[in-house]
Amino acid sequence: MLAQEVIRAKRDGRALDAAQIDSFVRGLVDGSWSEGQIAALAMAVFLRGMGRDEAVLLTRAMMHSGRVLAWPDMPGPVLDKHSSGGVGDKISLMLAPLVAACGGYVPMIAGRGLGHTGGTVDKLEAIPGYRTMPAADEFDRIVRTLGCAIIGQTPDLAPADKRLYAIRDVTATVESVPLITASILSKKLASGLQGLAMDIKCGNGAFADTPEMARQLAESIVAVAAGAGLKTRALVTDMNQVLGHEVGNSLELLGAIDYLRGDAREARTHELTLALGAQMLIIGGLAADEAQARAKLQAALDSGAAAERFAHMVVALGGPSDLMERPAAYLAAAPVVLPVPALRAGRLAAMKTRDIGMIIVELGGGRRQPGDAIDHRVGFSAMRQLGEVLAAGEPLAMVHAADAVAAERAVAALQAACEIGEATGAWTAPALLQATVG
Ligand code: URA
Repeated sequence: MLAQEVIRAKRDGRALDAAQIDSFVRGLVDGSWSEGQIAALAMAVFLRGMGRDEAVLLTRAMMHSGRVLAWPDMPGPVLDKHSSGGVGDKISLMLAPLVAACGGYVPMIAGRGLGHTGGTVDKLEAIPGYRTMPAADEFDRIVRTLGCAIIGQTPDLAPADKRLYAIRDVTATVESVPLITASILSKKLASGLQGLAMDIKCGNGAFADTPEMARQLAESIVAVAAGAGLKTRALVTDMNQVLGHEVGNSLELLGAIDYLRGDAREARTHELTLALGAQMLIIGGLAADEAQARAKLQAALDSGAAAERFAHMVVALGGPSDLMERPAAYLAAAPVVLPVPALRAGRLAAMKTRDIGMIIVELGGGRRQPGDAIDHRVGFSAMRQLGEVLAAGEPLAMVHAADAVAAERAVAALQAACEIGEATGAWTAPALLQATVG
């Protein structure tokens, strides 16, 4: 089947059949479709969309493009959580060990940064020695013994997504409901899960920037997953501001360590961790209802059990044994750290969250091209949250940069991305949890 004929069909708005979709997915893996042809089909899907049946066919074909894992004799439910992508979203780092400490088994195959969003694998690679690509039997052994392992997408797992993801990232074809659905679920179905909690980010820092698109994405993911036998619940959550106080790879990792140790638990980050964790425990039969699930999660945080799982996972994957006690000894710090002064007094009323994600890319904390090296040290810490009232000159955040020029540029860019309004008058924070689907 000729690639150009498949592209032409979608360009003209026709639904693709199983043979056409299989040809595309085969071409992604065996190289018989060129990068240009893949980009053209991705753009045609972006513009023309896909029906639910096409999305199911694409997801299944991508799932079967590589190895499909199975966990036949696990002593507990095999669960995972995935986010559609945000800024400052470090929840996976805390949630995998937390759910493991509550009896779940979490073989988390995480992603790298995409566009303006950060990726869990990039954050973990800030840890010296941490191996995000262990051998398959090692991954299996760590999940079985510790209850969780967070690793990267291995070359044999949904390889079709790996190539398509990298091409979408640089061809402005990420924000498509069927493409995001197939991308996320092909990996999750290939990793052999029994239950999945999806965090569908909605807002100006998300790929779904309107409530309508977020709901469509949530419904698409829940329906396609259910069709493949994967129990899934999706929470639509606010992404109109950076999640928590840190953004940037090492800084987010430090934030996750502080959270697990109980040193600092920013309110929205904590609420989202509990909300997603509760869904995982309920789907997995580890809690009867939301109240019981939350109590179990809180107890695993308070007892230090979740922090301990994280520490053991880091060691099992090659990281230092005292990372939790001495993170600063291992996570390289940026040479230049400057405050970002508020340009006027008032209430932090809005953030251009996508722009903030792009400032991180500009600082070197994300990629301009697939394969670019990342500077893990850079980003923002002590980010203020929407609704906070600041005096003129008070820091909106601290910028961490590789040099003074990059730092000054980031200061101006963050000032431009933060809108300061009047301090007086009523203020309502955007609701964190917007909808539940599934
Ligand atoms: N996360 C993924 O894994 N794929 C997408 O397309 C978007 C977010």
